[in-house]
Amino acid sequence: MSDDAISRNANRSTTPHNSAFHGYISGDWAKVDQPVAVQRDQVPFCAERRRALSAEFAGHTLVFPAGPMLVRSYDTHHPYRAHSAFTYFTGWGSDTVPDSVLVLTPNGTEHDATVYYRFPAGRGTEEFYSDADIGEFWVGPRPTPEGVAVELGLATRSLADLSDVLAQADASWAIIREADSAVTDTIDRARGTVSTRDDELAVFQSEQRLVKDAFEIAEIRLAIAATAAGFDDVVGTLAEVTAHTRGERLIEGTFNRRARAEGNHVGYETIAAAGAHACILHWVRNDGPVRDGDLVLMDAGVEVESLYTADITRTFPVNGRFSETQRLVYEAVRDAADAAFAVVKPGIVFREVHAAAMAVIARYVSEWGFLPVSLDESLSESGQHHRRYMVHGTSHHLGLDVHDCPQARKEFYKEGIVREGMVFTIEPGLYFQTDDLTVPEAFRGIGVRIEDNIVVTSTGAENLSVGIPRSADDVEAWVSRLS
Ligand code: GLY
Ligand code: MN
Ligand code: MN
Repeated sequence: MSDDAISRNANRSTTPHNSAFHGYISGDWAKVDQPVAVQRDQVPFCAERRRALSAEFAGHTLVFPAGPMLVRSYDTHHPYRAHSAFTYFTGWGSDTVPDSVLVLTPNGTEHDATVYYRFPAGRGTEEFYSDADIGEFWVGPRPTPEGVAVELGLATRSLADLSDVLAQADASWAIIREADSAVTDTIDRARGTVSTRDDELAVFQSEQRLVKDAFEIAEIRLAIAATAAGFDDVVGTLAEVTAHTRGERLIEGTFNRRARAEGNHVGYETIAAAGAHACILHWVRNDGPVRDGDLVLMDAGVEVESLYTADITRTFPVNGRFSETQRLVYEAVRDAADAAFAVVKPGIVFREVHAAAMAVIARYVSEWGFLPVSLDESLSESGQHHRRYMVHGTSHHLGLDVHDCPQARKEFYKEGIVREGMVFTIEPGLYFQTDDLTVPEAFRGIGVRIEDNIVVTSTGAENLSVGIPRSADDVEAWVSRLS
């Protein structure tokens, strides 16, 4: 056991350390047959992704750490989640062994790919029974190197060998810096410098991920199907939700139950916002009641085992009927979403999607008399008054990260050309704060967002989440049918 682990456990009974005990617990274990390893579906896709990387970084050693367990408090940890770049190039998802590192070593104009990870320690080690962080008695078995090699189609080496490898780092190496600070520090010390190659690697892999391959699109479809089931679960429990003083928590719990049952986890904290909470864009405290007459804004996504996530929002009347004003706002947002969807096709500039939604949002709030300036003035760059009611953007890329490809340069993201295979959200909204004196009282406290996930096709786009009711009529029918 590490000194750290011993001192942490000083006040609690711990495993014995005498040699008789060690000898006894180390023996009499049956040889366990390993399941037959099968290559995972993503292997050829990951190989192709690594080939594109090789072409760009010929001669450079590239390092992708999965990252460590993150401490939640004292000696408890957050559920483990590998860094997305590691998963993108290895295909190792929710079952990644913490602290693993992918190293791509130049071999001519290509690279050899090796995943370093903590091999099973064996029953004869103290680690097995006494290390609460990594011991297999505590946290479960680790896969064999032979099994990992087959499943991921990668060479495997023990994590114990990694420090010697990293000690050889020089200026030609590049690492995803934020994934594991210990690995980054080791490489920085060895090469004596922070290389600009690190930034180039971060940007390149981010931009590479802008266009999804067939495996990724299939996984996002699975994530959306599980998310749709989670939305149905929630709508099916609204009677219980309204009866509880913290109905928002029940919504979160019900959705997250589905996420854990069908996927790895939620892809981000579930937003379960009832009534005026819907006007708080990232309301994740979710500790409020849900009352008759409220709209519920639920923004949630299941992350599947391969770590791709959905990101979907629906806003629904808890009693099954929109009020007149709620319906007005709802259909305006839907109109904006439909307008944005209608412009999507290969060749447009990404920001045009946002512009299409904003033109509709601005028109409505202008017609309703909320703007202090003309519609044209509000839509001009020096105006933008309508954004008071929707301060967020309309679209972001979606994939392994809910806000995917964040390090892509502006000219490839916001100013980039939309291409077939891109997956992004369309998520306009209108939020009228309870204390907003620019809108009539009837509008105050209403928040609506509709968020869909779309994939760009050769001629337009497919709304992947269209099966979750969207129109006001369909939403009412949905709530009436299930609740
Ligand atoms: N759920 C966060 C977002 O919609 O971007
Ligand atoms: Mn969302
Ligand atoms: Mn989103």
